[in-house]
Amino acid sequence: MDAEKPGLAERPIRRPARRAEASATPDAVPGLQPQRAADEDAARRRGPVAVATPHRFGRIAFAHPAEADFARLLEFYRIAWRYEPTSFPLRWDGERAVESFTPDFYLPEQDLYVELTTMKQSLITRKHRKLRRMKEVYPEITVVLLTRRDYYDLLARFGYAAVEITSLPEADIERILYSPVEIATRVAQLGAQISADYANRSLILVGLLKGVTFFLADLTREISRPLAIDFLSVAPWQDGQAERVQFIKDLDLAITGRHVLLIEDIVTTGLTLDFVVTRLQALRPASLEVCVLFDKHERRLVDLPVRYTGFAIPNEYVVGYGLDYKQLYRNLPFLCVLKPAVYARDHIAHLARFNESAS
Ligand code: IMP
Ligand code: MG
Repeated sequence: MDAEKPGLAERPIRRPARRAEASATPDAVPGLQPQRAADEDAARRRGPVAVATPHRFGRIAFAHPAEADFARLLEFYRIAWRYEPTSFPLRWDGERAVESFTPDFYLPEQDLYVELTTMKQSLITRKHRKLRRMKEVYPEITVVLLTRRDYYDLLARFGYAAVEITSLPEADIERILYSPVEIATRVAQLGAQISADYANRSLILVGLLKGVTFFLADLTREISRPLAIDFLSVAPWQDGQAERVQFIKDLDLAITGRHVLLIEDIVTTGLTLDFVVTRLQALRPASLEVCVLFDKHERRLVDLPVRYTGFAIPNEYVVGYGLDYKQLYRNLPFLCVLKPAVYARDHIAHLARFNESAS
């Protein structure tokens, strides 16, 4: 499904023109001694050496964590890849190769080798020299070098390294469930579906504050119907109240006779939504449907008709893309689970320190 492969059209790796007759014996390399050139020519004719590595993802011992991240990124875009499949001899002593180069990845669909380096700029001169030599000896092979800067830019675009922006150390993240691109893709699908379902109708979107603001802002821009926006805010009652929750901000707009879509970031037990739906029904809208981005259906206590669901997620506490833990982490661009130690810290103190240093 193309819709499930977001960003393929703008994927950062250029597809090089496939060379029809890739020559196994390139023209003589200028500047080489005639005898050595002849030896090299013989060795070159035998071609690059296959390296025996298992190709199944998850079983590969990557030399560097950046390589594992890069592999996950390729997996996400369904780009076929192999890890270090080929060694290219670069220099020979007679027939014996004395220097060779093994690019980190090969992308068969792109016919492209990728070398990742997270070394400091000053240390990659040797790499550049090897790559220049690759071009001389194997002009038909395309290798791209991703420097540390390129690599982090790439990951940031897909949400993995963007944590630096939000002052959350990467080490605090247990697992990223959905990247910004995955969320945006799903939100666009929901918007398209809602636009189709409400053809020839206008609607009022009612968001439950505050976590929903991120989702609502993105969703409304994917809906091509005339719409109005309103917000509700609920909070748990203190002890001894009959109702489970109370409204702390009521609707501004009149919804009687209107098509209402109630938007929520995450539903767990369904108790909050059930209370709100009951209240909204009493105002006799023309129709009332529910749209939630994340659904922890395992924890559901109230049977609730949810018309639109973004993602079914496991029963774990999640933050990001509007969802908070003690009001923090809403601005993470992805949905993630934090390390248990993070939840044990005193976040109010952390926030106070934060404000002090900001002022
Ligand atoms: P429910 O009434 O049990 O469905 O609770 C839903 C509310 O709990 C949501 O509106 C969220 O504010 C909050 N919530 C539930 N699970 C999470 C989570 O994993 N992260 C952040 N907030 C959550
Ligand atoms: Mg909420």
